[in-house]
Amino acid sequence: MSLVKTLYRTRNLSDAELSTLLETDRFDPELLRRAEDRRREFYGSDVYLRGLIELTNYCKNDCFYCGIRRSNALPDRYRLSLDEILNCCKVGYELGYRTFVLQGGEDPFFNDDRIVEIVSDIRKRYQDCAITLSLGEHSRESYQRFFDAGANRYLLRHETANSDHYAKLHPNSMSLEHRKQCLWHLKEIGYQVGSGFMVGSPFQTMECLIEDLRFLQQLKPSMIGIGPFIVHRDTPFAHYPSGSLTLTLRLIAVLRLMFPYALIPATTALGTIDPLGREMGLRAGANVVMPNLSPVEVRKKYELYDNKLHTEKEAAENKALLANSIAAAGYTIVTDIGNVKPDKEDAGVKLEG
Ligand code: 5AD
Repeated sequence: MSLVKTLYRTRNLSDAELSTLLETDRFDPELLRRAEDRRREFYGSDVYLRGLIELTNYCKNDCFYCGIRRSNALPDRYRLSLDEILNCCKVGYELGYRTFVLQGGEDPFFNDDRIVEIVSDIRKRYQDCAITLSLGEHSRESYQRFFDAGANRYLLRHETANSDHYAKLHPNSMSLEHRKQCLWHLKEIGYQVGSGFMVGSPFQTMECLIEDLRFLQQLKPSMIGIGPFIVHRDTPFAHYPSGSLTLTLRLIAVLRLMFPYALIPATTALGTIDPLGREMGLRAGANVVMPNLSPVEVRKKYELYDNKLHTEKEAAENKALLANSIAAAGYTIVTDIGNVKPDKEDAGVKLEG
């Protein structure tokens, strides 16, 4: 039996088999076809929209890969006011968005009280929407308060599940252990949790990628976001190569086969390294897109990496443009809260390689 067929049937492979599947850059029609079958089985041709609202580009962290890291003096820093945030939601709701993703750097200005206020105000106005937070690491108590205020989902990529690799991407003040602890807290509280990693970040090896997949098998997140690492000119990684499109697509397909129930976005980073990256991501098994709902004047300031898309199909207000390109790829945008589907076979899944 081919590796792809085994992965399709058992949702798992050994470490050695996974590296064989991932290490080639060859286009693999069988892998993509199987991922497509699985995605149709769970989600049909539906693509869910998430409206991304980038609250702040201030960040107290200094991640070596990220353009809004604390040490970068060049970005024009901004914070959205409560009114601006609520207005983004209003515009988004009218456009058919039923999930608002509040993302931002770890900005102490947005303390627990402010976040709770924002979440409760959105919750009061939009009972039929999901509120997703992507605001980094907080204490269990803070996560609980945000949840009680009405947040349903939380995105926190683990970035890499190998602690040595983690230490090469982040300053000493951050640790993989703490990151994982946050993810477990979020799960315990009852959030739908999203995690994920960058593909092709500096010093990443095949072993790191396999550890990423194994960690995800433990965590069983509802959402899994991956995208290629892309250089940002004003970071310590300015001279490292960006991640590969084809490896990212292969990983999306592998994720779809390992986690058939998962919500997997075709990310902005994928759309940034290739003009058709997002559509290719959908064909490889992704089923979510996250256009930008932030006020137009701040969009280019939230620059995590060079040339990050923020116009055309990436702009929430250009839904028709996005819908056309998604339709051309064979999928349909739906106006739906887009919750994760139950994993029918969960009980029967064998987790060890
Ligand atoms: N290239 C690609 N992705 C990046 N992120 C941050 N910086 C970069 C970069 N240079 C990703 C991280 C983070 C998410 C919000 O954006 O994975 O979790």
